[in-house]
Amino acid sequence: NQIDPFDFVIFGATGDLTMRKLLPAFLRRFHAQEFTADARIVCVARSAHTPEKFRQQVRATLKEFAPETAKDSAVLERFLELVTYVALDATKPESDWTDLKAVLADPSRTRVFYLATAPGLYAPLCAALSTHGLITPLTRVVLEKPIGVDLKTATEINDGVGRFFAEDAIYRIDHYLGKEGVQNLLALRFANPVLEKLWNSDAIAHVQITAAETVGVGTRGAYYDESGAMRDMVQNHLLQVLCMLAMDAPASLSADDLRNEKLKVLNALRPMTPDMVRLNVIRGQYVAGRIDEQKVCGYTEDLGRSRSSHTETFVAIRTKIRTSRWGNTPFYLRTGKRMAAKTTEIVLQLRPQVWSIFSNTPSPGRLVIRIGPEEGVSLVLATKDPGVGGFRVRNADLSMSYEKQFNIAYHDSYERLLLDAVRGNPALFIRRDEVEASWRWIEPILTSWREAQSPLEPYPAGSWGPASTRALLARDGALWHEDM
Ligand code: BG6
Repeated sequence: NQIDPFDFVIFGATGDLTMRKLLPAFLRRFHAQEFTADARIVCVARSAHTPEKFRQQVRATLKEFAPETAKDSAVLERFLELVTYVALDATKPESDWTDLKAVLADPSRTRVFYLATAPGLYAPLCAALSTHGLITPLTRVVLEKPIGVDLKTATEINDGVGRFFAEDAIYRIDHYLGKEGVQNLLALRFANPVLEKLWNSDAIAHVQITAAETVGVGTRGAYYDESGAMRDMVQNHLLQVLCMLAMDAPASLSADDLRNEKLKVLNALRPMTPDMVRLNVIRGQYVAGRIDEQKVCGYTEDLGRSRSSHTETFVAIRTKIRTSRWGNTPFYLRTGKRMAAKTTEIVLQLRPQVWSIFSNTPSPGRLVIRIGPEEGVSLVLATKDPGVGGFRVRNADLSMSYEKQFNIAYHDSYERLLLDAVRGNPALFIRRDEVEASWRWIEPILTSWREAQSPLEPYPAGSWGPASTRALLARDGALWHEDM
């Protein structure tokens, strides 16, 4: 199952993403012998490193971010031989492209350009690649999120890139689709008729999708303060998870069949009016608190400035999907930095029994899909309370952990996605119309926040978000998972 020789060119190669995610992911796949020493990973950035100096930096990075693989020094050194560095400011017309052209001299190899730069540079970079004759019939381009900051900028980027690449050569990456737990939604639903039969408003009272992090903004303050949780997490990751969870069965696992079904979910989301935003969306920002017994400071202090910021680090949304499958089931989405736990999970709350013959009524069951950490699935069902006397029922947990079941520890979602891009399988990448439909739904929320100058509700670091987050569910008689 090895891949043909390829040239993988990363623009923005000295950045965080390349060092923490892309190169470690490649090293692990190389170690797993998924590709051979014929491959080349060409790192392009502005700094005037020599290839040797850059390799030293990569060696240190890999020891830090892929330690279990990098300790095999023979593999590490062979991998480093595949990595080359080209110093180039690709945005300046006067820059000299000779070195990059020399590395990419063979047009018969698969070529992937990975743009890990500011999104505003995607279109100009594609134009430059075209001017310098580097786009061959075997070339694909991978675009990191966020694609734009609103519908207009996303459309401009898509138009700009689309002038040089056909849609089927454009791979918009969302690393949540590389997560085993997200892909498993397809198997769970479409390979288990018993579950798929329950997958609708008749059986499911509500659905919650949570992506909570304990980290703050770290060193990414400059980017994050412009973006906020809505653009950083909701527009892409949470909506993609929602699509995988809520879509109808695609005719096949082909890229277009999958993406057609996801698009229908995005188009069926109930549009947000300003009144609905006020009632159904909560935006918060963390203030000082404690995480794992340690004191941590608030968001503005993390940014290292004295002036305040109006950027949200937490969002919770209540929405509905206007289809006969889901029309009567609220969907709650929430995400935030500096929350009580690092967890990405989905909870499908089952409807309660209408009448109980037992001496008590157990709380209704639920299906919990853990996407990370510790991927797994558990089904909470009522069972007889063991012991003597009476006939009481209580909840018990049928649980499956991927690691225990399959003896596999999952590493990083980029591993799967990078090699899918090289192989030419776009199924787990986002199509243009999906990106634009996501923005179309998100934008009225952003506009309404701006125009109504919506308040930011503070929440202490280490909590589950602003106090009003509970009330959002209480209205439907529901509880967040941690309160169940
Ligand atoms: C990224 C966001 O896309 O996803 C980050 O930009 C966030 O802010 C990260 O921390 C979360 O990813 P994961 O895989 O740790 O849930």
